[in-house]
Amino acid sequence: MTQRRELVDRALEHYIPKESKYPYIIHQAMRYSVFAGGKRLRPILTLAAAEAVGGNPESVLFAACAIELIHTYSLIHDDLPSMDNDDFRRNKPTNHKIFGENIAILAGDALLTLAFEVLSQPENLKTFKAETLLSAIHEISLAAGTLGMIGGQVMDILSEGKRDLDPKTLEYIHTHKTGKLLLASLRVGALLANATAEQLKAITEYGTCIGLCFQIVDDILDVEGTTEETGKDVRSDAAREKATYPALYGLEESKKLAQELAKKAQQALVSFGESAQPLRELGEFIVSRTY
Ligand code: IPE
Ligand code: IPE
Ligand code: MG
Ligand code: MG
Ligand code: MG
Repeated sequence: MTQRRELVDRALEHYIPKESKYPYIIHQAMRYSVFAGGKRLRPILTLAAAEAVGGNPESVLFAACAIELIHTYSLIHDDLPSMDNDDFRRNKPTNHKIFGENIAILAGDALLTLAFEVLSQPENLKTFKAETLLSAIHEISLAAGTLGMIGGQVMDILSEGKRDLDPKTLEYIHTHKTGKLLLASLRVGALLANATAEQLKAITEYGTCIGLCFQIVDDILDVEGTTEETGKDVRSDAAREKATYPALYGLEESKKLAQELAKKAQQALVSFGESAQPLRELGEFIVSRTY
């Protein structure tokens, strides 16, 4: 993970305009959140998915970076006072605490736009067919939009303080606000590496399970984790009466569900050989992580 994170960080460095580029403040704000030190899990999953299906991980770096840019935008907006109103992220004060709400909103917008600039850069045509690139861009658009992450975020916000939260809505929130982009990071890696229909199906099953598992663990860490380890505010879900797995099912049942999903994710990879070892280990990490 360390090696791959460094690879992703170098590529991101290349894609985001320098702080010395006018208007300075927006590039400073974008870089502040991107280089605050995230796990880079989604881009690492993109590379691992390409590798699993027999592709070259480095060739999909541009798509991996685009997904991290979208993810970072979602974090900046998620933390805003009108959203989760959090003060701490990636071990630093949240973007709006440093740059103000106006610039934080624009930094999020800029990161989202930059992601599609990176995805559509003409030089990608040297390595990939136009149809393959177009289908990757389409997948990412769907995963980030109202049928994906935004849809999940909408229901997350609307469900705050709801006493009679139903399991279906909770599952919708988690599979959409977090699961869809995580799944897309895997599918796009596989797709760009020319996965067969069978491989793509297995990766999709793995990603669906691990995506929900990831958010259940995020909920658990909000209850049991520390700011030092997670790098963000904890106990904020209960304070805002958020729709979470621990709130609906309790901690023990939530942990059991996360374990079951992680196991199902591993089973989805049985037909793969050694090339899927990084994916298997990432699945292990997702369910056992403390940050
Ligand atoms: C946090 O994601 C937001 C969720 C979708 C739960 P990560 O835990 O991957 O955050 P970073 O990228 O490492 O900061
Ligand atoms: C965030 O879920 C999901 C997205 C940013 C799309 P949370 O609100 O639970 O994430 P954290 O806990 O603030 O990282
Ligand atoms: Mg949120
Ligand atoms: Mg939040
Ligand atoms: Mg959370």
